[in-house]
Amino acid sequence: MKILSIETSCDETGIALIEAKGGKGAAGGPRFKVEKSLVASQIKIHRPFGGVVPNLAKREHIKNLPLLYRKIFGIGQNEKRLWDKIDLIAVTVGPGLEPALWAGITFAEELAKANKKPLVGANHLEGHLYSFLLRKTPGAEGSGISKLFPAIALIVSGGHTILLKMDDLYEWKKIGETRDDAVGEAYDKVARLLGLEYPGGPEIEKLAKVGNPEAIDFPRPMIYHKNYDFSFSGLKTSVRYYLVTHPGIEKDSKARVDIAASFQKAALDVLSRKTSKAIEENNAKALFVSGGVSINKALRDRFKKDFGRDVAVYFPNREFCNDNAVMIGAAAYIKFLQGKKYRPVAQANLNM
Ligand code: KG4
Ligand code: ZN
Repeated sequence: MKILSIETSCDETGIALIEAKGGKGAAGGPRFKVEKSLVASQIKIHRPFGGVVPNLAKREHIKNLPLLYRKIFGIGQNEKRLWDKIDLIAVTVGPGLEPALWAGITFAEELAKANKKPLVGANHLEGHLYSFLLRKTPGAEGSGISKLFPAIALIVSGGHTILLKMDDLYEWKKIGETRDDAVGEAYDKVARLLGLEYPGGPEIEKLAKVGNPEAIDFPRPMIYHKNYDFSFSGLKTSVRYYLVTHPGIEKDSKARVDIAASFQKAALDVLSRKTSKAIEENNAKALFVSGGVSINKALRDRFKKDFGRDVAVYFPNREFCNDNAVMIGAAAYIKFLQGKKYRPVAQANLNM
């Protein structure tokens, strides 16, 4: 099945063309071949504002979508030939910024109408969740997939921090999530406190690499609570408090790297502890980590070190950690295998 997918939930405009095969019932899991994947990032547009401005995002998506579409489809006969091969159009319906979501949905509706193709919605978080399937790792594809369950999945992005228990690829239950800020949001806010550019995750990671993670003992909120929930707002506040009580310290280059490293260590300690508890208590055989923060090398190294001996640990390829349309096509295909679909209507607060 050939799927054209569209992603516009936040500040990346994505269009992709994938070929999806296999899955439920058939031997092995679903397989995806990425034929085209384009992402136009709006980061530079939002940077002066220190975060994503919803109406600016919408304007940029409306501008970018036809440009990316033309790059993939060309014009005339090329465009027509490609449409003949497409079976389904998938578009992100949430969670995300409502005006940004509608930009993608409206564009997808127009394409569906003009080319007489079925249109389905997709859940952005399911896209992140399944992005580990978009890599050619032995075991995650083909006949090995059933051996990975029960599994634990951790989604770490700018808007979410979620732990899921998966009984198989299609059945999952949310077991924990953040009660306030997402971990990516905490990276972004701490970066802002240090005067770094948006998005803050990569900037903090860079500084942290040369800092001392033991320099400052920031709190690890909820680390020993008897549940799988997280809280990152207090951690960010304690960084702010540290800066307020040490005036001017954010300008000291040695202090900056130590603050970044100590913040990152505190965040990773909490993520690792809760994930460890989830793996143990659910007898998991695999761990799937996804979302924008999963590109972070310190996180990857830490998780491989903490869990690699006991369970199979999967991360998406780097290009599929941040928002993209390939994962949206994959999520829509997996829903299709289950005989389910989301209506193409924006749901800003859609969850797992
Ligand atoms: O998944 P994503 O692209 O968008 C959402 O669905 O939210 O995630 C974006 C988040 C941002 O908060 C960004 O700062 C964070 O991912 N991020 C990182 C890194 N690269 C991006 N966080 C930590 N380390 C990184 N290298
Ligand atoms: Zn995302």
